[in-house]
Parts: sequence; C-alpha cells; structure tokens
Amino acid sequence: MLRRLIRPARRLPIWLIFSITAPFVFEVLLHLWRYSVPRPASELDSPFFTTCQEPDVNAKRENAVLVMLARNHELEKANKTITSIEQHFNKWFNYPILFLNDEQWSPRFIEVLNKTARGLATFEVVPQEQWTFPEEVDVNAAKQNIKEQGEKGIPHAGEEGYHHMCRFYSGKFYKLDILKKYKWYWRLEPDVDFTCAITYDPFVQMARHKKVYGFTIALWEVGKSCPSLFRHMADWKEMMRIPSNGLWKAMVSPSWVPFPLRKFMSWLPYRDAHGDEWNLCHYWSNFEIADMDFFRTRAYQELFDYLDKKGGFYFERWGDAAVHSLAVAMLADPRQVHHFEDFGYRHDHLYQCPANAPGGQLPDSPLLGSGNWSPEMDNGIGCRCECDGRTTSNHPGFCLNRLKQPTSIKRPWYSLIL
Ligand SMILES: *[C@@H]1O[C@H](CO)[C@@H](O)[C@H](O)[C@H]1NC(C)=O
Ligand SMILES: *[C@@H]1O[C@H](CO)[C@@H](O)[C@H](O)[C@H]1NC(C)=O
Repeated sequence: MLRRLIRPARRLPIWLIFSITAPFVFEVLLHLWRYSVPRPASELDSPFFTTCQEPDVNAKRENAVLVMLARNHELEKANKTITSIEQHFNKWFNYPILFLNDEQWSPRFIEVLNKTARGLATFEVVPQEQWTFPEEVDVNAAKQNIKEQGEKGIPHAGEEGYHHMCRFYSGKFYKLDILKKYKWYWRLEPDVDFTCAITYDPFVQMARHKKVYGFTIALWEVGKSCPSLFRHMADWKEMMRIPSNGLWKAMVSPSWVPFPLRKFMSWLPYRDAHGDEWNLCHYWSNFEIADMDFFRTRAYQELFDYLDKKGGFYFERWGDAAVHSLAVAMLADPRQVHHFEDFGYRHDHLYQCPANAPGGQLPDSPLLGSGNWSPEMDNGIGCRCECDGRTTSNHPGFCLNRLKQPTSIKRPWYSLIL
C-alpha cells in the first residue's frame, strides 16, 4: 500500500523512454552534422600580399572599372571617397571611374569630381526603366507599404529611392550599356575611407586566383528588412537542385527541433521550408570587388527575376548585400570568394583595420614616398595603414568567422556549438 503511494505503478521504464526518444535525438544530431561546415585541408583564401609591394605601374591591367552611385547633394562625401582611393590606390593604377546617379548630374558635381579623379571619369544617369517598380508590382500598394515600413523604423525602408537602389544593385546594374564592356568592378560609396596603401592590382590578383567576389566586412543583416528573403532563396535553390556547399552551410543555423516538428519552424522569419534558419550573416556590399560575369550568368539572372516577382524589394526592404551574399553562397565555390583583410576600410561607423606588417613597409620606395604610418605589429599584414592597427578583424566578429569557415583551417572555439 505504502509502496504504491510513493512509487507510481505505471511509470514508463527507462528503456522504453530511451527507445522512443533515441531515434529523434539521433535524427537531430544527424541533421546538425549535415550542416557542419567542412574544414579544408589547407588555407583556401589567404591575403594576396602581406607586405607593401612596389606598385607595378606598367603591368597589364584587367578590364575593370570603379563604380560609385551617388547623388548631387553627396558631393563632399563622394569627393572624400575619391580623394582617398586616388591617394591609396588609383594614382598608381589609373582605373576609370564611373559615377552613376538616378537624376541629372549637377555641373558642380562633375567639375569637382572630374578634377579629384585623376584618370578617366564618366558621369552617367541610370535609365529610368532600371530605377523603378517592376511590372508585376502594384505601385500604389507598394508605396503605401513603403510608408508603413518607414513608420516601423526599419532602416531606410521608408525611402522609395532606397528600394529602387537595392533592386538596381541586386539585378540591374551589370546589364547597363555603359558597364557591358567591363568584366570587373570595384564598388565605391560616398563617405568611405581607405586607410592603407593598396600597392598591388586587386583585379589582376582576383583573376589570377580565380576569384569572383571580394569583400572587406561581414556582419548581420537587419532581420526586419527581409523576413522572407531566405525562404525564397532556399526555395529556388531547391527547385534548381543546387547542392549546399560549405558557404551555404555557413549561412545556415540548422534547427535543433526534432524531425516532424521542425517543419513548423518554417513559419518563422528567415527560415527555409524545412525550418532551418539563415543566421543573417552577409557581406557588406558597399565595398565589393567582383566579376560582373558572375552576376550576368543565366543562373544569377534567373534567381534575380524569381526574387523580383516575389515583390520583396518593395513589400520588404531586401538589400542588395543580402541578395548578393546568399547568391554567392549558393552559386559560387567558397574558394572563389576573397576577403581583402589587408585593406583598411571604413564606411559609416564600421571599419576593418589591419596592423602594419613588420619589416614590410618599403620605407625607401620611390613611388610610395615617405610618410607616416602606424606602428608595425606582429602578424600585421597591412601596408602603411594609418589606422591604429589594433582592430585587426571585422566588427562584429561572429559573421566574419562564420563566413570564412569554409576556406579557413582556423576555427574559433564557439564554432563547435554554433
Ligand atoms: C575635393 O577634394 C580635393 C582633394 O582631393 C580638395 O582639394 C577639394 O577642395 C575638394 N572639393 C570639395 C568641394 O570638397
Ligand atoms: C574632365 O576633365 C578633363 C581634363 O581636364 C576633360 O578633358 C574632360 O572633358 C572632363 N570630363 C568631364 C565629364 O567633364
């Protein structure tokens, strides 16, 4: 009698509980394992150079152009970026610079920037049909929605022009007549500082190492700007039967929810149809050095058209950074992505700042001249960087580490659990 009170008679035996749960636990572990990013046998993406080089001004150039989308009122900020890139790179390499605007250029902008850009500068207006709503979109509904997005405080989401810009950079700009003759581009933005000397030709190195996409900073996307983007991307990937490479896996945080229930997680934002989540990591696309032929491929253009029809460039605020990053992860080999970790770069309040390479500063270089640079530090890879050299990695570090995992043998401790 007493024993019955203390010990419920119908307690499930341990072995039964175990045999019911074990398959689910096993399935979850298998699922997590399928998303683990394989570690390469050797470093697959190293800096092209880790010291200053004597700029080879007579070397053959690539078919490349520097591109800046700007507005007339951004004259000072644009002038600052161009001053910086001329001083740190283009005075040796003289690549043409293309300025794009969605409105007519003011004569003053042209006058000032044409002077600051020492090489060939061209000033173009984006054709109206590339800078507007696609046919499928109900314009009035979109405008109303954009207003509401703005009221919700999603960054830039209340500005119609910003949506057009994101759509333009996502799928249109590679097809501009004026850009058709170029293969490579380097995207510039007003209000950027380059803080190290770039003494080699990055286009030549990208081509030599078979890279298609180069970045400086990786960080989290603002989730509210693109709740359904990842779902559509992943749906398309599945439709096209594109296998997941290491970079795609690095973008995904697999769900820990067991099998039949996991699918319900797909109702949450930034999840694919199976319930796995995009960790929102992406490359910050205000800096890009990339091969436009990648974006001109049929696969990329079809992906863009698919996304365009979903309306998310307007009914959400899908950014070109997220679109480019997920597309690169899906369609490129991780080895084709390059991190320009030797570049000093700042835009807004985010920056990357390598330390200077010990003994690698070429103090007697005739072309680099004399000047001041920050102290050299062990493991530094920068060339005459003016920043303090203490911030050697991106902010914030999680996404950079994550997106470098497919090509790097170095793993932070938390890569075991995240
Ligand atoms: C543009 O930059 C140059 C330096 O490259 C400077 O001399 C000039 O004053 C600047 N102009 C404006 C309007 O900011
Ligand atoms: C820029 O300046 C150069 C030389 O001063 C001149 O030949 C060229 O026509 C100018 N370009 C524009 C777009 O004004």
